[in-house]
Amino acid sequence: MASVNSLSASIQQRVADALGADPLLRRSDRADFQANGVLGLAKRSKQNPRELAAQVVEALPAGDELIAAVEVSGPGFLNITVSDAAITRTLAARAADDRLGVPVKPEPGTTVIDYAQPNVAKEMHVGHLRSSVIGDALVKILEFEGETVIRRHHIGDWGTQFGMLIQYLVEHPHELDHEASEAGEEAGEASMSRLNRLYKASRTVFDSDEEFKTRSRKRVVDLQAGDPETLAMWQRFVDESKIYFNSVYDKLDIAIRDEDVVGESGYNDMLVETCKLLEESGVAVRSNGALCVFFDDVKGKDGEPVPLIVQKADGGFGYAATDLSAIRDRTADLHADTLLYVVDSRQALHFKMVFETARRAGWLTDEVTALHIPFGTLLGKDGKPYKTRSGETFRLVDLLDEAVERAATVIREKSSELTDEEVADRAKEVGIGAIKYADLSTSLGRDYVFDLDRMVSLNGDTSVYLQYAYARNRSILRKAGDAKPVAHPELPLAPAERALGLLLDEFAETLAGVSETYEPHKLASYLYALASAYTTFFDQCPVLKAETPELRENRLFFCDLTARTLRQGMALLGIRTPERL
Ligand code: ARG
Repeated sequence: MASVNSLSASIQQRVADALGADPLLRRSDRADFQANGVLGLAKRSKQNPRELAAQVVEALPAGDELIAAVEVSGPGFLNITVSDAAITRTLAARAADDRLGVPVKPEPGTTVIDYAQPNVAKEMHVGHLRSSVIGDALVKILEFEGETVIRRHHIGDWGTQFGMLIQYLVEHPHELDHEASEAGEEAGEASMSRLNRLYKASRTVFDSDEEFKTRSRKRVVDLQAGDPETLAMWQRFVDESKIYFNSVYDKLDIAIRDEDVVGESGYNDMLVETCKLLEESGVAVRSNGALCVFFDDVKGKDGEPVPLIVQKADGGFGYAATDLSAIRDRTADLHADTLLYVVDSRQALHFKMVFETARRAGWLTDEVTALHIPFGTLLGKDGKPYKTRSGETFRLVDLLDEAVERAATVIREKSSELTDEEVADRAKEVGIGAIKYADLSTSLGRDYVFDLDRMVSLNGDTSVYLQYAYARNRSILRKAGDAKPVAHPELPLAPAERALGLLLDEFAETLAGVSETYEPHKLASYLYALASAYTTFFDQCPVLKAETPELRENRLFFCDLTARTLRQGMALLGIRTPERL
């Protein structure tokens, strides 16, 4: 595991030594890099910037094997061109490392990430898609960098709605019985349809039968008091739902471990104490019987303060009490120094108030970062939230199935030699990849239009485009026969090779940026740029038909490193890269 100094880091260092200040290096389309740091230094030291720039050029070692050319441009910018040999050599160092030269954090912390949190006895909808996909990518990226990551699936598995459901099950004990033959994906569907049926039936009775309503309310009290029979019934709902969740996550190609599913019920024992601590410290106060936390800057339309309600006037605990207790658990017991919440942007105010409350209570200290990672809504082509024709929210599974179907059509058209079975296998990887990529390539917090035609398109910023670039690349490497990928730093590089090479070198820095801001779309757009640069390279630089054996080896080397970088990058986004398409 060797981390590799990127070209930009090496040049940064070199110019910093000559300048005696930060050169503020960036990629440029004038040359490979541009340094703007001369301007600021000239201003501070009252020097002529162009003269200072010329001095820096003088001070740079001549005949440098890293820098091929430096030019002063404009008011005092330095345009820097890297030598071809330095590009190939740096890439060779990356290729020699399993991790492509991506460093492991020297002092990793512990991050608790709250994502993929569907609700028990309820259908999963498109909102649960985004949290799962973004969360899964962040887990993979952070773990790759060496962070200790604790996953928490804060499922909605507690609350007054269970009174009605449990009571109905008590009175109709066979409603959740299984067919002996149930397995796999169908088992998930069967579970959900049982839960749906039970929900509808119990709702009907609840709305029409006052006595049932009373019995249901009593059940809530029993549930909260921990009555064993009631808890056992409740557990059946949770177990039934997990069968369904798991089948959807299988389809989504996201691994959810049972031990990481710690739902709202998991903090039940802490709620009373959480309230007590808040009330005793004065962070929360009683207002019309409810236990509330007030904020100067949170007011309703009428200008009246809107409090965070920790405990309702009837004694019931809400969503906030659970989240506050979860913070106590995640900081004091799990020793997290970062808490991430991948949740719908509509819950932004909730998290703002919860975090602020936890800070006042001392559960979140300055050493702990708590961050809501918001995501926007999926929109239909009409720009309104994505709904079925009858105005209902889409079931997540239907959406996934449709994506896989569309992908199958695209693959069949493009690759006629595949068998039906192969088409079906690839369609899963391509269809699910398409959905994940569309999601991950959208910047956080933004809404996006759910357009399957666009998502499975072969052209444009899609996972299919990336997967084809990868597969094409792999096919060249297969066809190379005895010719092996070997770096030849002595060979001059064509413009398309330089462009591809400079991008390949940016992988580690891109990842560092992603884990700093928790923005997976930066990785997605990097991979798209890489695949595009590869496509240009592929068009302009013959690989197998290269003029000399050395050139062929060097180009195979570029192909191989591109394939590995694409595969690693896509894997971190949770997207498969089939070897053949
Ligand atoms: N179950 C919730 C929902 O479906 C999301 C939970 C988010 N996490 C949290 N700690 N509040 O909206």
